[in-house]
Amino acid sequence: MDAVTTFGKQNRLSISKNFALLLVILFIGCLVGTGVLVYHLSSCTTTTKSIIEKIEVCSKISENVSTTEIVDEKEITTTTAVAITEAAEKGATNKSIDVRLPQSVFPDFYDLKLIPFLQEGNFTFHGQVDIKINVTEKVNNITLHADELVINEASIILHDKENKTIPVLKVGNDSDRQFLVIYLTKELDPETQYNLHIEFTGILNDVMQGFYRSSYLVEQKVRWIAATQFQATDARKAFPCFDEPAMKAKFKLSLARPKNMSTISNMRIISSEAVKEVEDYEWDYYEESVPMSTYLVAFVVSDFVSLHNGNFSVWVRKDAQAQAKYSLDAGPKILKYFEDFFQIKFPLPKLDMIALPDFAAGAMENWGLVTYRETAMLYEEGVSSRSSLQRVTSVIAHELAHQWFGNLVTPKWWTDLWLNEGFASYMEYVGTNAVEPSWKVMDQFVVHELQNVLELDVLKSSHPVSIQVNNPVEINDIFDRISYAKGATIIRMMDYFLSTKIFKQGLTSYLNNRTYSSAEQDDLWAALTEEAHKHNVLNTNLTVKQIMDTWTLQTGFPLVTVTRSYNKNSVSFKQEKFTLQREEHNASQVLWWIPITYISSNNKHINSTWMSVDSNVQLHNITLSDADWLLVNVDQRGYYRVNYDPKNWQLLIKQLLNTNGYTTFSTTNRAQMIDDSLNLAAAGYLDYEIALNLTTYLVHEKDCIPWMSAFESLDYVQEMMVKSADFDKYKFYMTSLIKNIYAHVGFEDSPNNTQLTIYNRMEVLWRACYLGNIDCIKNAVAYFYNWKSAPNADTYNPISPNLKNIIYCVAIRAGGQEEWDFAWQRYLASNVGSEKDIIMSALGCSRETWILSRYLYWAVTDGSGIRKQDSPRVFSSVSSNIIGQDLVYRFFKNNWGLLKQHLGSSLMLLNAVVKTCISHINTEKDLQDFKIFLAAHSEELSVVSKTIEQSLEQIEANVRWMNNHYAKVVEWLKWYKKVHSKLTV
Ligand SMILES: *[C@@H]1O[C@H](CO)[C@@H](O)[C@H](O)[C@H]1NC(C)=O
Ligand SMILES: *[C@@H]1O[C@H](CO)[C@@H](O)[C@H](O)[C@H]1NC(C)=O
Ligand SMILES: [Zn+2]
Repeated sequence: MDAVTTFGKQNRLSISKNFALLLVILFIGCLVGTGVLVYHLSSCTTTTKSIIEKIEVCSKISENVSTTEIVDEKEITTTTAVAITEAAEKGATNKSIDVRLPQSVFPDFYDLKLIPFLQEGNFTFHGQVDIKINVTEKVNNITLHADELVINEASIILHDKENKTIPVLKVGNDSDRQFLVIYLTKELDPETQYNLHIEFTGILNDVMQGFYRSSYLVEQKVRWIAATQFQATDARKAFPCFDEPAMKAKFKLSLARPKNMSTISNMRIISSEAVKEVEDYEWDYYEESVPMSTYLVAFVVSDFVSLHNGNFSVWVRKDAQAQAKYSLDAGPKILKYFEDFFQIKFPLPKLDMIALPDFAAGAMENWGLVTYRETAMLYEEGVSSRSSLQRVTSVIAHELAHQWFGNLVTPKWWTDLWLNEGFASYMEYVGTNAVEPSWKVMDQFVVHELQNVLELDVLKSSHPVSIQVNNPVEINDIFDRISYAKGATIIRMMDYFLSTKIFKQGLTSYLNNRTYSSAEQDDLWAALTEEAHKHNVLNTNLTVKQIMDTWTLQTGFPLVTVTRSYNKNSVSFKQEKFTLQREEHNASQVLWWIPITYISSNNKHINSTWMSVDSNVQLHNITLSDADWLLVNVDQRGYYRVNYDPKNWQLLIKQLLNTNGYTTFSTTNRAQMIDDSLNLAAAGYLDYEIALNLTTYLVHEKDCIPWMSAFESLDYVQEMMVKSADFDKYKFYMTSLIKNIYAHVGFEDSPNNTQLTIYNRMEVLWRACYLGNIDCIKNAVAYFYNWKSAPNADTYNPISPNLKNIIYCVAIRAGGQEEWDFAWQRYLASNVGSEKDIIMSALGCSRETWILSRYLYWAVTDGSGIRKQDSPRVFSSVSSNIIGQDLVYRFFKNNWGLLKQHLGSSLMLLNAVVKTCISHINTEKDLQDFKIFLAAHSEELSVVSKTIEQSLEQIEANVRWMNNHYAKVVEWLKWYKKVHSKLTV
């Protein structure tokens, strides 16, 4: 699945590291009064699992503390411990139930028949399933999954091979586990196959899970379609089944549809015939599938059109037909590339891809029928931006990589989800690079994945990529950046240390060994180790498992500190766990097997060595003079940060500041030095002065990748300062840094520009306009009015697709209701998903609070024109606007019920909305208020507890930042301003 919803630029800022920063302001306000409170929050963090209960407990204690002048430290600790234990136990009853199916029976074959009804007032489906079941031990019941289905108990029949009926004693329903338990009057025979027949009905829901309905308009008339989304645990909402990934079986589907519509599924249709009982309905009968997991089953009933390229087809609503051309062209190329890459042919007879108007995630890799939200598959030349084109390409590559990695060989259990998602997230870059090499996506990887996830993985509330998960909420929680981006990053690291050739050979042998079956990470490690030993890329006493266990089973990542001994020509490397709070690191040492790579000013050849878990590394006789720099972790191949002794930092900075010499370092290495140094400084490992001095080289930086890193890291500083009295100094600094690059990229977008030039322009203009650059704002507003005054704005838009997000936002921020309404009308009229996304993000830029309130309300109202799938985008766009932050928070609190009702059980959407809602609390009173709210809704909010937990931890870090670094950074900015004002005057 491509689960990570991508927002527009301004939103990305607000939901990545910065969303939490906004929260900080709250803490800054209340710090003086509640230093103790902060202490207690942090002391609780380590002890209990559920944040909701934690907050409840902690807020009680903090009340005690503030009313009692002198408090016995020990007493608090005891009270805390007791209260927490109680709370944790209470929470544990929910979390610890064993939801795994008994392994005594398993499915071999499903014969599934479904009739969905798609008439206003009747969104139901009727179904029946015949499951061939193998029994491995004597049992007198059959336990399988069913959820939100009405089971016709009288219809349940169990036959043995001779077609003799085994009478059913009773039917049980364990709704906590979503189990359907069929108790029998006699024991079943192991080694025998049985046939289980069940009839049922269900509702085509509107929350995009299980078998659901979706709609779109043609000439103002509603058209309905029915589609599925089963990963992770929602196949059981469409038919009773053994809904665990390792319980693979073959499927034979019969799907009915109105005569004028068509169906698609994993396999091909073999025949069709009229449905006897229902007028104007036809059955489509499908061929039997290969053995596959339930979560990969998919089917769609629609009136879409299709385009074909051999056995590869794309399906799309008729009005968007032209937008599917690109994916029809790119899809087969990528599929072919992966066939060569894996050395295994795509095993199914055809592949369909469909763009659905309503889709919760980005896309889903159902075997042979990949489903997408429109913006992840459709691209309209001249309307959609280049980043939208890149997104389409990379999502296709992601889903197609899953056809092997995930579909052909499937993780035994969701614990190994990271293997699936990390791998697909890496291959999305490899696959995109194969078809569009000029985009340099492998360079972008470092910023978008590696550096981005380092920010999240530093939190204590992060988790190891490989993690035990039990119930559906926990399973849902791990569809996160850690599984995807960290997973991808450590797989990339492996690609480097094994070499691509060995890496690919190991993968192929892993896939061939486990075809149509399931596997655990150890199976992959074994296959890779074998290849590595065969070709001597790893020492025979070292295995891939030894190395990779340190990366997959532990949270966080190492900091490698490099200290040179200048008179002895030696270098020492040591490792420790990187934390947000340097002074905190202590005895509990977590260590890694680290692939070290390095280059130096007098030797650009890449040297490498291993740093093991049990020894530090010393390099002797390294021929470096006092004036030579040393650079470690070349191109940021490894998942770690690097710190140096101050002198080596100075040498690196000297090289960077050299107008012609900075390109000695690759663009990714420049990006790495910026990101490492600023993050080391923020966590207290490095003097801020060194990091900020390093950034001054940016005045002559022309490349996009280092700028992306710089903006990402400096946005942190910006967010910390944006409401402070010293913001003018930051503005001066950033304005000076971008002065040259602003002139260099210009406001004019050209189709001949490279992908990275276009991105660079987008990044730079965004900051320039945000910081109030008059030229930038004037340009943006002028473009917008050109468009607004056009006779038909829905067919004529003079704005370059790549600049739309900036221009729309700036003009709506500068304008009033008229501008907003104009954009809203264009949103409603647009036929292109990516255009709608851009407008939606820009609509949150308004400064009129009533408009923003109305907009939020529309985001949770059926029929308003905003789809459920887009609610998070609306909330995120309003909360990244300083004026909207308070509104979003109050909306969340006052309308939590509405929000939950509207988004239903779609945890992915709910989490995304909650994240943005709590991101703008900014007074102590609001924090207290928030805690009271959390306490009162602990039960309902427990589904988003991970999100809340991570936010609160980031807030603490931000508070520390304000205490420890704010003054120092302001001092430096003042100095910078003084020096540079003189120069310009
Ligand atoms: C189930 O049993 C049948 C024969 O009884 C066998 O052909 C089939 O392969 C078995 N299925 C699985 C998944 O082991
Ligand atoms: C929906 O339509 C089908 C077919 O006409 C009918 O059998 C079924 O009872 C209807 N269900 C509801 C809830 O109206
Ligand atoms: Zn995926």
